Amino acid sequence: MKVTFEKLEILKEKPDEKNLGFGKYFTDYMFVMDYTEDKGWHNKKIIPFGPISLNPATMVLHYAQETFEGLKAYRTEDGRILLFRPEMNARRMIKSNERLCMAAVPEELFVDAVKRIVACEKDWVPHLEGTSLYIRPFMFATEVAVGVHPAKSYKFVVILSPVGNYYPEGVNPVKIYVEDEYVRATKGGTGFTKCGGNYAASIIAQEKAQKLGYTQVLWLDGVERKYVEEVGTMNAMFIVDNEIYTAPIDGTVLPGITRDSCIELLKSWGYKVHEEHFTIDFLMEAAREGRLQEAFGTGTAAVISPIGELFYKGEKQVINNFKTGSVTQKLYDTLTGIQYGKLEDKYGWTVEVV
Ligand code: COI
Repeated sequence: MKVTFEKLEILKEKPDEKNLGFGKYFTDYMFVMDYTEDKGWHNKKIIPFGPISLNPATMVLHYAQETFEGLKAYRTEDGRILLFRPEMNARRMIKSNERLCMAAVPEELFVDAVKRIVACEKDWVPHLEGTSLYIRPFMFATEVAVGVHPAKSYKFVVILSPVGNYYPEGVNPVKIYVEDEYVRATKGGTGFTKCGGNYAASIIAQEKAQKLGYTQVLWLDGVERKYVEEVGTMNAMFIVDNEIYTAPIDGTVLPGITRDSCIELLKSWGYKVHEEHFTIDFLMEAAREGRLQEAFGTGTAAVISPIGELFYKGEKQVINNFKTGSVTQKLYDTLTGIQYGKLEDKYGWTVEVV
């Protein structure tokens, strides 16, 4: 792929790796390319990270044809840079774009663009344990028009941000508010896509939860507010009577790449994994009876995040004495072990950036 490069004379100073937080700092460059119906994807460039100027009538600003992805680049002890299953992000974005009637970025082009910009910004992949370079590919409608129709032109961008933990709690358990008023997704909607609109609609519940002292919300199904779906920024898994329960991928839940990897690992360790609908009442009852042994979220940003407390309709249930459970810890250690090249990658999940 031919990519033009606009070189900067002065590069930014790198932030202190001990205080990266999440998504606060951005690297020197970004990858951009444009799509039009006649030319397809063209104008592939690595340019200085900076503002994108838009006409006020640009369609994304009105009808929100926007999708994004999230993946990370990890630095190994011997200085190699690894990506984790980037082709899965490419495939998910194709599915998101289909649902939003947006042009697709072919898998190979997506992965190539990610590799190119990460290779260019290798020095920005942090070194400290638990840190990584968060990769945010996104795409939006650029056609200038105010009528509602699928846009005829798009921009695809990849920006990079050196990050630490997503949650202020770090890798310690988070408190989760079970949301029974607002809904995130219903079948036939966009719940399975990674589009900005899904997150816009979810912020009100996150705000409500945070005011009550909870980190995130656990969403219930949009029809009966009864079945457990996912947490705002991660898929959710629960261990009841030594078996794993997680919502199925059937239209309303994000098909998480960390979720998929955890299911594969858990099955290889002999766990029965139920990818099926289960109710919040089932979970709360299991918690009351001491059978809800562990709960955790899985996501690129959140990694494996233990859930220490559930709050539902006035009832508080603490899980595993608000401690990280042994299965949660083993998943965290195995997954990050593979991602940082410390453990053998039996599944062929990592891709080196050279
Ligand atoms: C991710 O885990 O990569 C996400 O996109 C979740 C969140 C930061 C929106």
